[in-house]
Formats: sequence, C-alpha cells, structure tokens
Amino acid sequence: MKSRTVAVALAMQLLVLGLSAARAADAPLVGNAEAGATKIVTCSACHGPTGNSPNPEWPNLAGQHHEYIAEQLALLKSGARIAPVMNPMAATLSPQDMADVAAYFEKQTLTGLEADAKLAEAGEKLYRGGDAARGIPACLACHGPNGRGNGPARWPQIRAQQPTYVSNQLHAYAAKTRYAAGATLPPGVDMMTDVASRLSEDDIKSLTAYLQGLR
Ligand code: HEC
Ligand code: HEC
Repeated sequence: MKSRTVAVALAMQLLVLGLSAARAADAPLVGNAEAGATKIVTCSACHGPTGNSPNPEWPNLAGQHHEYIAEQLALLKSGARIAPVMNPMAATLSPQDMADVAAYFEKQTLTGLEADAKLAEAGEKLYRGGDAARGIPACLACHGPNGRGNGPARWPQIRAQQPTYVSNQLHAYAAKTRYAAGATLPPGVDMMTDVASRLSEDDIKSLTAYLQGLR
C-alpha cells in the first residue's frame, strides 16, 4: 500500500515535470542584447558592427524586428532559405544565440542611404498607391508608411535597405528561389511572392531606389 502511494506520487511528480518542460519548450526565447553583442563578431565583417552593412548586396540589420531576424536565421540554418553565403553562418547559431543577436541588431540605429530622386518618384508612387490595373497592392499596406514593418505580424522593416539586396530579394520571391521547394514557410511568404511576381524590371529599379532613402 505504502509503496503504491509512493509510486503514484512519483508518477504525478514526473507528469508535472514533463508538463512544465513542454511549456518551456513552447515559450518563445527571450533575447539578451548584451549577450548578443558578444556573439556578432563574425557577423560584423559583412553586416557591420552596428548592423549597417558597407556592401549593397549585404542587408542592413540595424533596427530590424527581432521576431523577423530570429525567424530568418532559423530558416537559413535549416536550409529552407537558400543563401550560400549565409547558410553556414546561421548553422553555427543555437536558438538562444539567434534570439540574442536578433535583440542586439534590433536595438541598433539604422543610418541608411540617400534615394536617387529621379528613379525614386515612380517607386514612391507604387509603394504608396500600388497599381490596381496590374493587381499590385500598395507596399505600405504591410510594410507601413515609413517602411518600418510590424514585428509581431512578421512584416519586415524594408526602409533604408541596401539596393542590390532589395532587388535580389524581389527577383528571388518572383522566381520562387528565396526558399527551397517544399519547405515549411512562415505565413506571409505567399503574399510577398504574389506581389513580387507582378513587378516589372522598371518597378524593381524604382522601388529599390525609393526604399534606400526611405526613413
Ligand atoms: C560573408 C558575409 C556574411 C557574414 C559573415 C554574415 N552574413 Fe548574414 N547575410 C549575408 C548575405 C549576403 C545575406 C543575404 C542573403 C541573400 O541574398 O538571401 C545575409 C542575410 C542575413 C540575414 C537575413 C536578413 C533579411 O533581411 O532577411 C540575417 C538575419 C543575417 N544575415 C544575419 C547574420 C548573422 C547573425 C551573422 C553572424 C552569425 C551573419 N549574418 C554573418 C552575408 C553575411
Ligand atoms: C500583403 C502584405 C505585403 C505587401 C502588400 C507587400 N509585402 Fe513585402 N513582405 C511581406 C512579408 C510578410 C514579407 C516577409 C516574407 C518572408 O518571410 O520571406 C515581405 C518581405 C519583403 C522583402 C524582403 C525583406 C528582407 O529583408 O529580406 C522586400 C524587399 C519586400 N517585402 C518589399 C515589398 C515591396 C517593394 C512591396 C510593394 C510592391 C511589398 N513588399 C508589398 C508582406 C507584404
């Protein structure tokens, strides 16, 4: 009788332990920006020590939403997002590292570039008003009037972004080469793929010119 009571008590305790472990695994990891600062040494060679990249092909990360950064790093680590330069970099990061570097970069100040005024005019028109005749929605509907996006909704910040990077991504969404076929992807990828597939080469040039100066 006594040993059975002990066994039941033990089973209950294991159940409680099991439940709390499951709960901990479900909770999103909280990033620590100070810990992140010590983990971005290799990243800073390309993205800059404050997330302001010196190269038009390498994206700025300063001010980007931590939810988006951490999610993209997980996709880059698993190979779901195809980026031969970035995949091995992400492969070295644990989920906690991803949360920490995301917290660090989100806190940095985006310095950005200046728009090419001549090209940017058409870009601004499309960004703010879309083009109903071609089924192109206004970019600001999701990315916001100043390109700041929305963290919890996982709409990335795209203001002051590097021009070649933006152009590459718009082409990659349209060609469905940003992500591996069959990978499980965040909600929102399909929307962006559809938008990008409707853009002409001239649209991409003018949007890219506009976005690099958007604040
Ligand atoms: C050798 C240069 C290089 C290094 C080092 C590097 N990256 Fe990258 N990173 C890139 C490039 C290039 C891309 C864009 C890939 C593409 O075209 O899809 C990128 C993309 C990213 C993205 C996606 C950005 C977005 O807007 O979607 C994140 C997040 C990122 N890098 C974080 C990191 C972190 C964190 C580290 C350090 C652990 C790091 N990178 C190291 C070159 C680099
Ligand atoms: C219906 C909402 C929606 C609209 C409208 C929209 N986007 Fe997006 N966009 C998204 C989402 C969601 C993502 C992230 C998708 C992912 O996880 O890959 C994204 C990603 C992007 C990226 C990649 C960002 C990065 O750092 O890699 C660029 C560039 C971009 N959008 C530009 C535009 C432009 C330009 C327009 C207007 C022509 C536009 N978007 C319209 C939702 C939208």
